[in-house]
Amino acid sequence: MPHLRWQGSERVGQLSGLRLWLDEAALPNTPAPLELGVGGAWPRGPYDAAFTANTLHIMAWEEVARMFERLANVLAPGGPLAVYGPFHRDDRPTSPSNAAFDAWLRAQSAHLGVRDAAAVDALARPHGFALQRGAGDAGAQPAAPVAARRALTPARCRARLDGPALFRRGSLR
Ligand SMILES: C[S@@+](CC[C@H](N)C(=O)[O-])C[C@H]1O[C@@H](n2cnc3c(N)ncnc32)[C@H](O)[C@@H]1O
Repeated sequence: MPHLRWQGSERVGQLSGLRLWLDEAALPNTPAPLELGVGGAWPRGPYDAAFTANTLHIMAWEEVARMFERLANVLAPGGPLAVYGPFHRDDRPTSPSNAAFDAWLRAQSAHLGVRDAAAVDALARPHGFALQRGAGDAGAQPAAPVAARRALTPARCRARLDGPALFRRGSLR
């Protein structure tokens, strides 16, 4: 997507690794990544849109709420938020591999786990975001931004099967 300027971000301890990836890619539209810890430092914004992949299941539920709260401050009104990753639908896994992944996450730590799409929507709404489509919709297509030509981690591969969830800020009626 060369027409977009992608501002990457990471937790401070992971920034150097992300920098290495970006240096190797040497793309003209990916400036140096900025520090972002959901509960700590955030870039100032405003940004036209935001994208996060494979993060909601790796954060505590309180951090997911905090992410929406902070995104509301850095996203321009109406700016879309695409969330990529595995989701449960109606509190149930959408595939055996997601069920196994969820069990694996919960065995690692009680605060991890695949999130239910409706629960995430309810969490996001007080911060002005509403789930528009995806997160288990039968017709959901993988999001174009995810088609980065990098080696896929197992979590990414799993997420590709689910398609994106698109939230829009400020479109609540
Ligand atoms: C499973 S990795 C996904 C990485 C990449 N987005 C992908 O799809 O391959 C989870 C990412 O979430 C980040 N992360 C976890 N907790 C975070 C937090 N509290 N604040 C900011 N980032 C966090 C980690 O640093 C890591 O980059």
